[in-house]
Amino acid sequence: MFGGTVEFHPTQRHILWGSADINTSKRSPSPPLRTLIQVKTEKPYILLVEDDPDQSQLLELGLGQQGFRVAAVRDARSALHRLALEAFDAVVSDLGLPGMRGDELLRLIRNVDQSLPFIMLTGENNVPTAVQSVRDGADEYLMKPASVATVVQHILSAMDRRVRTNAEERRLRDADKAQIKAFLTGVQALVNSLETKDQYTRDHSKKVAQIALMMAKELPGMSKDQLREIRIGAWLHDIGKIGIPLTILHKNGPLDAEEWEEVKKHTIYGARILEPLSKHYPEVQRIVRHEHERWDGKGYPDGIAGTEIPLGARLIMIADTYDAICSNRPYRAALTRDDALKVIREGAGTQFDPGLVPVFEKTYQEFPCAT
Ligand SMILES: [Fe+2]
Repeated sequence: MFGGTVEFHPTQRHILWGSADINTSKRSPSPPLRTLIQVKTEKPYILLVEDDPDQSQLLELGLGQQGFRVAAVRDARSALHRLALEAFDAVVSDLGLPGMRGDELLRLIRNVDQSLPFIMLTGENNVPTAVQSVRDGADEYLMKPASVATVVQHILSAMDRRVRTNAEERRLRDADKAQIKAFLTGVQALVNSLETKDQYTRDHSKKVAQIALMMAKELPGMSKDQLREIRIGAWLHDIGKIGIPLTILHKNGPLDAEEWEEVKKHTIYGARILEPLSKHYPEVQRIVRHEHERWDGKGYPDGIAGTEIPLGARLIMIADTYDAICSNRPYRAALTRDDALKVIREGAGTQFDPGLVPVFEKTYQEFPCAT
């Protein structure tokens, strides 16, 4: 009965629903026995939501004869309850259910699972709503009474389509990941070439990234993605220096006004170099562009102030200053952690975000220091 193109991923779907907030009274924290048993079966598992007992019985019987397993419920609330506990391969639901309607059920499902095939059954007077439900994420709508053969055909084609879409999305995601990896490897080579030309800034980027990340981890509510963007942004914060002439970058003695303006451009060059990351890590570009902005608005390149400055850039401002103080320089030996603490405390509210200075105070003893 089932073609070779249909694949099932019941365990993945179960995990999605396990974390859904759908106000069910009972929820199992771990996969129930039925789900574990179900992983081993080849039969697609259908959730049938139909309040008309005759129609429900007819479909349940017919689908069973065609090789499906069917769980039949009479209302949307019971459907949500079953979805929270079990992994289904498709939902077939009546639109005109008592209490919560089929289209509302669909919306709740789509909030947590965009790929579960959903077939809507509808009476003649509900066609506009059914059409709308397809726009809202239903795979098909079928007029009632629908024959078993029609329902089966639409379930299978919806499952097949979903499998192909998921595979395509996975392929694109993998291609994106490979591209980002290749890009970052190339950028690492740029950072290395920048730092090997100057023994005093060797490993500076790595240390700034380490410090900024340690501080960021102390902040409440940081997501994995935010932490990743801060780490990459801090690591690549000075990448734009690759565009500054070495005669300026390595000049012995103070820079004149024109040279100084040239150096400031490294923030803009850096954001430009990192353009290929903007699709997946948009914050990285912003962090690199604004890593020299000051809390009081007197920084560069845009002179933005306070929380307008990306969080990652505000962290880099502190981490960069700390590492500069705690590293050896051609004109002086490295100073101590407490020297850095003094400078950063004094700059709270002018150069540095005063809200982040206590975070620095809490963590700085663990930061690398040459002394
Ligand atoms: Fe910089």
